[in-house]
Formats: sequence, C-alpha cells, structure tokens
Amino acid sequence: MLFRSWASAVEAPWPDLVTVADHVGVPHLVVTRHALVRRVLTDPVTFRPDNALDAVSPMPVAALRVLAGHRFRLPPTLANNAGADHPAIRSIVADALRPDRVAEQRPWLTELVRGRVARLRATLAGGAPVDLYAELAADLPLLVLARLVELPDTPVGAVKDFARAALELFWAPLDADRQLALATEVGRFHRVLRDFAATGGGLAGRLRAAGHPPDVVVGALFFLLVAGQETTSQFLTLLLHRLAGEPAVRAGLRDGTVAVADVVEEGLRLEPPIVTWRRVAAVDTTLGTTAVPAGTSLVLWLARAGRDPKVVEAPDEFRPGQRGSRRHLAFGAGAHRCVGDVLARMEAAVVVAEAAPLLDGVSVVRGPWCPDNLTFRMPDAFVIRRD
Ligand code: HEM
Repeated sequence: MLFRSWASAVEAPWPDLVTVADHVGVPHLVVTRHALVRRVLTDPVTFRPDNALDAVSPMPVAALRVLAGHRFRLPPTLANNAGADHPAIRSIVADALRPDRVAEQRPWLTELVRGRVARLRATLAGGAPVDLYAELAADLPLLVLARLVELPDTPVGAVKDFARAALELFWAPLDADRQLALATEVGRFHRVLRDFAATGGGLAGRLRAAGHPPDVVVGALFFLLVAGQETTSQFLTLLLHRLAGEPAVRAGLRDGTVAVADVVEEGLRLEPPIVTWRRVAAVDTTLGTTAVPAGTSLVLWLARAGRDPKVVEAPDEFRPGQRGSRRHLAFGAGAHRCVGDVLARMEAAVVVAEAAPLLDGVSVVRGPWCPDNLTFRMPDAFVIRRD
C-alpha cells in the first residue's frame, strides 16, 4: 500500500493511524485523518520536516559516490528545513511567486494553451489520437516558471528528465542498478545548477545577496525545478483525465453553472499529484491515543485526508463547490505550506477553462499509468481519440 497509496484511496475505511513497513523493512506511521494530518503539519516543533527529502531506498555506496563526484548536497533549505534561516529563504522564494506576478502571466499562458488546444482539436478531428500529457500539460508549468524565476538555459526535455529522475531516486522503491543510473542523471544536472547558482541573476542572485551560502541557492533551485513544475504538470494531466469521466461537470463548465475555480479545488482534493508527505517525530509524543516515539517517520496521507468524511460531504464524488471541497491538504499546511499554490491554481484554471471542451465527444484510449512511488503520482501519458 505504501508506494501506491493513491490506488487504495477509495477503499474501505482505514484506521486513523497504521504502521506500514517499506520495501527495506523500515516502519512508517501512516496518518490518514484530516485532523491528525493537519495537526502534524502545523506543529513543526514536535513533528519536524527534516526527513521530507530523504531517499526512501537507502542509497548504495556506488550511487553515493556518483552524487559526491558531482558535489551533490541537499542541505536543509525549504521543505526539509526546520532551521532559523527557513523563513528568510522562504520569503525570497515566495516573493518571486507573488500573486500579482502570477496574475501577470495569465494572459500569456492563456494564449499559449489556446493555440495548443486549437492544434489538438484539429488533430482529433483528423482522427488521430492525442496525448494530453505530452502535447499539452508536460512543459507548461516549466515554461511559466522560467518567466517568473531566472533558470539555467537548459532544454525543457533535460529539465523534465532530471526532475522525474529525482522524484524516482528519492521516493520510489528501487534496486541498486536503478539508483546508480538515476544518481548519474540527477548528479549531472546538479552540477548545472551549481554553476548557475554561482552566477545566475533573479532568485539565485537575491538569495546570494541576502548572504545565503551556495548550497542553499542550489537547494532552492533544485526544489523549485522539481516541485515547482513537475507537480503541476502531473496535476494537470490527472485533472483532465478525471474530467474525461465527469461529463456532468463538463456540462456545468459549458453552461456556466460550475465555476472553474471550484473544479480546480475539487481536483486538488481528489487527484492530488502529491499523495503523501513526510515528517519525523522530534520527541516522544502521542497522536490521538497512539504513542509515537521520537524518531518515528510519519507518512501523512494527504490524498486520504482530502476524502475524510468528517470534512467533506460526498468524499469520493467530484462535486465542485461541495461543503469541505476547499479544505483539502494537497498543498500541506503550516510553516512549510506550498508557496507555489497560487501559481499552480492559476495554471490549472487556465487549462481547465481552455482544454476541458476537448474532452467532449472523445474516448480515452489510454489513461495515465502511475509507477510505484511513496509521494508522487508521475502519470506517464493520457491519450484520447475522437469517437
Ligand atoms: C499542484 C501543484 C502542487 C502541489 C500539489 C504542491 C504541494 C506541495 C506540498 C504538499 C508541499 C509540502 C507542504 C508542507 O510541508 O506542509 C509543498 C511545498 C512546497 N512547494 Fe508545492 N506544490 C505544487 C506546486 C508548486 C509550485 C508551482 C511551486 C513553485 C513554483 C511549489 C513550490 C513549493 C515550495 C518552494 C515548497 C516548500 C515550502 C517550504 O518548505 O517553505 N509548489 N508543495
């Protein structure tokens, strides 16, 4: 269950807390209830974020050597940083993603998506299949991010390959050969980031000017390039796939009785790209009535918390605007809550508004396939064809 928790999200009720061992036998305490997940996320003193980016498959020496050869380090920077410098680093990153800056990108993104949708519509009309992941969603978030944050001048495909390799290396159950291959890919790109962090302007320059050491600048860029684009392209794909099976919602979008923003929230609740997130107990404590010893790895089942019947009226149904729809924890909560939420919501709103009509009168040739992963869905394709 641990590595495919998204697949069991609609099964019979789960206990509030359940201990599950991973593939190497390490026990994790899985937290399923909305109230308990929220409690953990909002108490960073008792439940620290230090393990957020730890590799679930311990790295073999050969892979560690490759990473060390590229001077790869992931010091506490953002998601895994409980230190005193976290608020200052976070505020510099958050400033680059301010709502007014995000709003400025909306017309540009709308034009881009509109053009793509027109081309895809023509392809469908000609009888050919269309992959909405590869041909619409995959690169959009990276293209927008590059307009908000100065990034290394690297081809989109190379960044996507690196980001997916990183998600697999740190969050998938892996054997040593695969870890070595992924470490080579991630390490190589880390070197690109290290060079850029030393000289790049924009966010990198601002972090340097504020006195943050090179490792912190690299760490922030690393996290942004992974979390700041891959998550959203996964979400766009999962949401479009979900909408393909929700004709009543699409009809509501068409006649204006369903709001795009409500569709995005219900999508985040039911199809979050990040299904779990980790914390570690800093001290001996309790959750509910369960004793939690210091050092326990907690897997917060964000996707399950979004379907908690104590919070949502019809937990497994896609009903935009229903009571509790917006109370999902897809972006986390508390001091480390996602700083890219406004951006992700804007991108999803544009794609839903422009691309949902493509789903009328088509059949799903192939739904997204998602590999084993503790945290990320990583859909690989979503292919449709005109009926
Ligand atoms: C649908 C898309 C996204 C989802 C579901 C998502 C989800 C999350 C989650 C669950 C966390 C951990 C929160 C916690 O520990 O409480 C997080 C943190 C973070 N996210 Fe996102 N994210 C998304 C998009 C983005 C985007 C577009 C960016 C930036 C361009 C971004 C940047 C960050 C950063 C920098 C953090 C670390 C914040 C900190 O530790 O202070 N995310 N995100």
